[in-house]
Amino acid sequence: MTELKNDTFLRALLKQPVDYTPIWMMRQAGRYLPEYRATRARAGSFMGLCTSPDYATEVTLQPLDRFPLDAAILFSDILTVPDAMGLGLYFAEGEGPKFERPLRDEAAIKALAVPALDSLRYVFDAVSSIRRALNGRVPLIGFSGSPFTLACYMIEGGGSADFRHVKAMLYSRPELMHHILDVNAQTVTDYLNAQIDAGAQAVQIFDTWGGALTHAAYREFSLAYMQKIVAGLKREADGRRVPVIVFTKGGGQWLEDIAAIGADCVGLDWTTDIGLARARVGDQVALQGNLDPNALFAEPAAIEREVARILAAYGAGSGHVFNLGHGISQFVDPAHAGVLVEAVHRLSRPYHMA
Ligand code: CP3
Repeated sequence: MTELKNDTFLRALLKQPVDYTPIWMMRQAGRYLPEYRATRARAGSFMGLCTSPDYATEVTLQPLDRFPLDAAILFSDILTVPDAMGLGLYFAEGEGPKFERPLRDEAAIKALAVPALDSLRYVFDAVSSIRRALNGRVPLIGFSGSPFTLACYMIEGGGSADFRHVKAMLYSRPELMHHILDVNAQTVTDYLNAQIDAGAQAVQIFDTWGGALTHAAYREFSLAYMQKIVAGLKREADGRRVPVIVFTKGGGQWLEDIAAIGADCVGLDWTTDIGLARARVGDQVALQGNLDPNALFAEPAAIEREVARILAAYGAGSGHVFNLGHGISQFVDPAHAGVLVEAVHRLSRPYHMA
């Protein structure tokens, strides 16, 4: 395998010394980039991008060709996993993801099983293809949804404002929910390990909806299953540690518990102060975050002020990967993303002088 030319991201995840704070952006390849929209038009659809290793490679590299980002992230979606379980993923124009066969009755839930990983071969082929195309430029991040976040889409059949079917099942029939989560956790473990085998150099678990749970339910229905996954992951490839990042949106008040499940890094949304987070769990894990993604709608000077504030809050030393607190909006001006990346690199250097 080619030597990594820029390993700042991997070093920061392991709290090893770095010259500056590395940055990548959640959803860095996406609709805010005109070149992404052009490639998607050629591919015919979003799933057309995901299922073609060539297109997936092309769009993964687009943000890196514009900005000096410190990591690439596999272009795919968390919902390819339930699709492989037979739920029938489709994207209705302007409506977000939907499933043809959501899990609503007991028979369908009991029939749910870990799918043959071969049905996700196109993802692993994309990982290998992206690694070849990167040629050691920056590390490649693989990812999956958390068992609970996947279950939300599988049960609701799409996005939801109130998770009414999920909550009804969780409170009335917890054993059915646990069955779904068990199958999801086993599947995600195998899926992430296959991404690591194909060349992913770090992995992130996206727990987008864990924050919708109560204090007790978060531990029982989301965190416990992420802990199982982390325990089952390969942590080394090509003689290097493969760091694991766990991101629960809305998880700020549970940081101690999240930091204890064995991941290398905890992702923060924008509502948590990263300095206070570091004081709470910074000895145990690295932290990733946490610019308000909608701060990118502000003028460049304001974006720089927010970057300076977050860097100062984290303070001196390694263990911080800069990111947004959630995905970048499709309406952001790409030039503003450029301002962010440049500001993080420039303003963070003084915090890494020995
Ligand atoms: O970060 C990256 O650049 C990698 C690609 C990536 C996508 N989705 C591409 C995508 C990643 C890591 C995801 C994760 C994902 N997908 C999550 C977890 C993170 C989060 O944002 O909370 C979730 C919940 C999904 C499910 C999903 N996929 C939704 C809700 C939507 C519709 C909302 C939207 O932004 O359109 C998608 C579609 C999707 N996934 C798009 C992209 C670039 C937009 C599709 C398009 O081109 O029309």
